[in-house]
Amino acid sequence: MSNRTRDLDHRHLWHPFTQQRAWVEEEPVVIESAEGTDLIAADGRRYIDGTSSLWCNIHGHRHPTIDAAVRTQLDRVAHSTMLGLTHAPAAELAARLVEIAPPGLARVFYSDSGSTATEIALKMAFQYWRQRGGQHARRTFFIGLAEGYHGDTIGAVSVGGIDLFHGAYEPLLFPKRCVPAGDPQALAMALEHYGEETAAVVVEPLVQGAGGILVQPPGYLTRVRELCDAHDVLLICDEVATGFGRTGTMFACEHERVAPDFLCLGKGLTNGYMPLAATLTTERVYEGFLGEPEDFRTFFHGHTFTGNPLACAAAIASLDVFEDESTLLRIQPKIRLLDDLLAEISRMDEVDEVRGRGMMAGIDLGPHDPALRLGHRVTLAARERGAIVRPLGDTIVLMPPLAISKRDLARLVQITADSIRAATRAAYPGGQPASLGELHRARGRAVSDGGGATRAA
Ligand SMILES: Cc1ncc(COP(=O)(O)O)c(C=O)c1O
Repeated sequence: MSNRTRDLDHRHLWHPFTQQRAWVEEEPVVIESAEGTDLIAADGRRYIDGTSSLWCNIHGHRHPTIDAAVRTQLDRVAHSTMLGLTHAPAAELAARLVEIAPPGLARVFYSDSGSTATEIALKMAFQYWRQRGGQHARRTFFIGLAEGYHGDTIGAVSVGGIDLFHGAYEPLLFPKRCVPAGDPQALAMALEHYGEETAAVVVEPLVQGAGGILVQPPGYLTRVRELCDAHDVLLICDEVATGFGRTGTMFACEHERVAPDFLCLGKGLTNGYMPLAATLTTERVYEGFLGEPEDFRTFFHGHTFTGNPLACAAAIASLDVFEDESTLLRIQPKIRLLDDLLAEISRMDEVDEVRGRGMMAGIDLGPHDPALRLGHRVTLAARERGAIVRPLGDTIVLMPPLAISKRDLARLVQITADSIRAATRAAYPGGQPASLGELHRARGRAVSDGGGATRAA
């Protein structure tokens, strides 16, 4: 069965973010089912889902509450459009999201991926200022952060800052200004120069995920909000990765009591069950779109599967599980355990730096020849030992479901450490160059703690 899957895959599929030439040379893991925080392959092997199936899963797979909610909805209707109609799961979920979101966010616009959630925030911000008219119509630019990532559609790529992913598309992108993350002075200067032309500042609050699990210093987000306010610029917080408990609070913005003008949600919204995303905004922005139909102040945007009822039912059930299982309370000791385990990892000679916050961690193996594919080697070694992890270049990302047991969390980190050692040994058969260990030591191997500060290992 799995041979057939592999053969069809190699013949017909094209995988995301994947060099297919290398892909077809490897035996793929064919996932057949899942249980709790484990993925189970067609050959019966079990793996800890160390990436939460691409940063989505929170409460574990096949959670009975969410499974039941989807089945119940399936008995009613699987899909009905939000264009010209409404339905209870979409309305109920919107009310629940507004209830838990930072203050002032009162309106919910659904879509189906993190990329579209960002596109929507960008288009809304742009159109909002155009419709304000007068000098505000000049606000057509966006400011993003270096190493920022907001998805792969053209608008999201335009405000992104990862050259490897975004550079090739430069001629297709709309102009934006990029400032180094974590440096309020750089943003202050950009707004000083371009504030009156800027529609919005776009940030991943506290932790920039795809950029390499980069942690911003404490107080940065607060300063970003203050600077946006001072220049009457809208703030878009992309919590597609950080939302739903990932950093230890429901939303990362809460750590600094910041309320953005737009909050982009995806991934964990449905516990990773179904493609659903949401862009939340304020009544102020919403009212900027009100008028007579013939005024054409409508937000002309919508996707076929916007607000899909099955997905909304899964999302409501996921929020129920947060309450039923006190997920945010129960995650705290696990975060402390992960911090302790990561402090150990940061002492390894093979490790340059450990970054992260809450249940997001990046283990940076430092500069290596890309041809060695060290990060990839680590994922293969981890697979042999029973865990699925994924690299961002030579940074190994650990992003387990919040529901993971302490035992499995410790096992995941142990597997990762063993895999880093084994992969480094295999990549450097003559021994890891001494200069690399020394380089790491010289750079003051550090682990970023829960407060965003770095503490020496
Ligand atoms: C912060 C952030 N924004 C947006 C996205 C894009 O989400 P999607 O892949 O669902 O389009 C991601 C995906 O990793 C993300 O991490």
